[in-house]
Amino acid sequence: MRIFTTIDELQRWLHEQRQENRTIGFVPTMGALHEGHLSLVRRAEVAGDVSLVSIFVNPTQFNDIEDLLRYPRTPEEDRTLLQKAGCKGLFMPEVSEIYPPGQDLRVPVQLGHLAKVMEGKFRPGHFEGVMMVVKRLLDIVQPDRLYMGQKDFQQLAVVREMLRQLGLPVELIACPTVREADGLALSSRNRRLSPEKRAAAPVIFQALLSARQAFQDGERLEVIRKRALHCLQQAGLRPEYFEVVDGHTLLPLSESERSGYVVACAAAWAGEVRLIDNLVLQEKHPR
Ligand code: PAJ
Repeated sequence: MRIFTTIDELQRWLHEQRQENRTIGFVPTMGALHEGHLSLVRRAEVAGDVSLVSIFVNPTQFNDIEDLLRYPRTPEEDRTLLQKAGCKGLFMPEVSEIYPPGQDLRVPVQLGHLAKVMEGKFRPGHFEGVMMVVKRLLDIVQPDRLYMGQKDFQQLAVVREMLRQLGLPVELIACPTVREADGLALSSRNRRLSPEKRAAAPVIFQALLSARQAFQDGERLEVIRKRALHCLQQAGLRPEYFEVVDGHTLLPLSESERSGYVVACAAAWAGEVRLIDNLVLQEKHPR
């Protein structure tokens, strides 16, 4: 695995890969890697792409400075894990490499309600920061395919919308959420959970599973939502939202829309750690 810290070195290597007719599969991350991240690398490799991972804790997407300062950083472990997963390239730039002073890298995309609901509502400015870094990284790497996780369902929708509005020529591959045996979605933030909160955290997935069952049983959406929020509270978490949304628009579902693509999305605090998760309640094309 080759490791790059500057854009110049990285682009020289990318040029060599293209000269040999290889396609590039790009996996942007913020490090503190786990099986969820590695599943994206493997997916890129299986698809026949040369996998390139970036590790960059992007300051512009943190609306909470404490969260940025406490964000776990494990560069040595990350390198070992990536090597084992068959990753071919790792880009670990400094902040000044991604955000050279004096450049306005804001992305001229109107996200509308996509940036106002759920994560957008509770983390103002977050998606503008995500777009800024993803667009910047895509400009640098110019990959054939971009691999991202369903775990961050709204982020995926935002990036998809950005690619659409800007007409960027990259294929977005959405990959399934990797979970612990007890259902907790893998997340870099999980390592900050106290033993007590780690034990309580799987309730998020349980609430999502119950919501799916209730949805399939025809339960009213408002009842499903309230029950899920109650369930999270009972387990000692502090839920921010539990929404049942249209999987395309991310707007709260109304009773009359039950036939489409339906996803439940949740965010909750487990102590000082904010966790998010989601589950498809009904597929795009019900069989
Ligand atoms: P990060 O949280 O490090 O996640 C990097 C990628 O891994 C994202 O596409 C995310 O959806 C995916 N991922 C995280 N946990 C996963 C899991 N349990 N199963 C499957 N995939 C998972 O998301 C970000 O970083 C940043 O916002 C980024 C896109 C890199 C921009 O800074």
